[in-house]
Amino acid sequence: MTDIKKGLAGVVVDYTAISKVNPDTNSLLYRGYPVQELAATQPFEAVAYLLWNGELPTDEQLAELVAYERSHRTLDPEIIAAIDLLPLEAHPMDVVRTAVSVLGASDPAAYDNSRESDLEKSRLLFAKIPAMVAYDQRRRRGQGIVEPRDDLDYSHNFLWMTFGEEPDSVVARAFNVSMILYAEHSFNASTFTARVIASTTADLYSAVVGAIGALKGPLHGGANEAVMHIFDEIGTASNVGPWLDEALASKRKIMGFGHRVYKHGDSRVPTMKAALDTLVEHYDAQELAELYDTLEADFVSRKGIYPNLDYPSGPAYHLMGFDTLTFTPLFVAARVTGWTAHIMEQAASNALIRPLSEYNGVDERHIEGYVPDFAAT
Ligand code: CMC
Repeated sequence: MTDIKKGLAGVVVDYTAISKVNPDTNSLLYRGYPVQELAATQPFEAVAYLLWNGELPTDEQLAELVAYERSHRTLDPEIIAAIDLLPLEAHPMDVVRTAVSVLGASDPAAYDNSRESDLEKSRLLFAKIPAMVAYDQRRRRGQGIVEPRDDLDYSHNFLWMTFGEEPDSVVARAFNVSMILYAEHSFNASTFTARVIASTTADLYSAVVGAIGALKGPLHGGANEAVMHIFDEIGTASNVGPWLDEALASKRKIMGFGHRVYKHGDSRVPTMKAALDTLVEHYDAQELAELYDTLEADFVSRKGIYPNLDYPSGPAYHLMGFDTLTFTPLFVAARVTGWTAHIMEQAASNALIRPLSEYNGVDERHIEGYVPDFAAT
């Protein structure tokens, strides 16, 4: 009997030097550095550099990446036109997926799979995706595009392009932390998708477009959006008990809880929860905090299933003022750094990813009356 590992659970499919998830110690390392230390000390730009290159940048290397990012933020007219063609009701994940596809189709170097060219494309996506996400939220609100400001860093500028106001430093800081925590997480579904596509030697843009599709689902990145829908449904902390009774009786999954790898809590949650706490204080959002704490305590005590990163990040993005539908595209903006690092790692020691399956369909059968005509073949 073949031992089938549904969902590839527990299967180690390759080596990676990009990040290490250790569920026993609840730790996550990017290129050897604990993610909490990176979130406390680094700008997201430096973490992107680390993921791609294996080392934190020197001052000059960081300055070069920062200068590149600041000078490539503006959306080209064909990207804006492509976004404008999409209905306002289109899910923002569909919009960012389409915009990345158009960017790839317009890049004459798209099919150059050398590391040098792929690194250039990774930097380009890093610089452009925030403008796509920010513009899409604005157009859905009936607002015009806000041009980027090259005197602002990645996080401040992202918030500036979305809201047209310079953000408070508490907000920009929490946003920077969320980007770093979302940047990379080994062979999760979207990263694995990117690696499968890269393994065929298709171009980097195709791999990123596929990864965006995988991230969209509520069992993966779509959970940060889904957490907020749950909060809206519950309303206030006093409704948590009866709401959970009903949700669990109908076998609903509670979004933002559980993880395939971590079974005793997600290593990233305490850092994001601390960032959320600063936002709760900044926006005086005690009611939301109470709902957050009550749902967590009640669900954990009933099921022993702990929050994942999407649980604190959903409410954090809500407090910052993002539309709920924009939450998963924010995850895209962050995770594109990890995806592209993995695409380059896959290319560096490639083997086509092509697993086997065990056939369990009907036995061989034949078309009635069919007589092979050997003369015709
Ligand atoms: N709510 C209710 N029950 C749950 C949940 C949950 N969030 N998560 C797991 N369970 C139960 C599940 O119903 C099953 O119970 P039983 O054995 O009685 O059928 C058991 O726990 C095992 O769950 P599973 O879904 O088979 O396990 P998995 O390792 O495939 O699950 C997961 C991982 C993330 C798909 C799942 O926990 C889940 O659906 N969580 C909600 C969605 C979510 O928050 N996703 C974000 C994941 S982490 C960050 C990211 O990728 O963005």
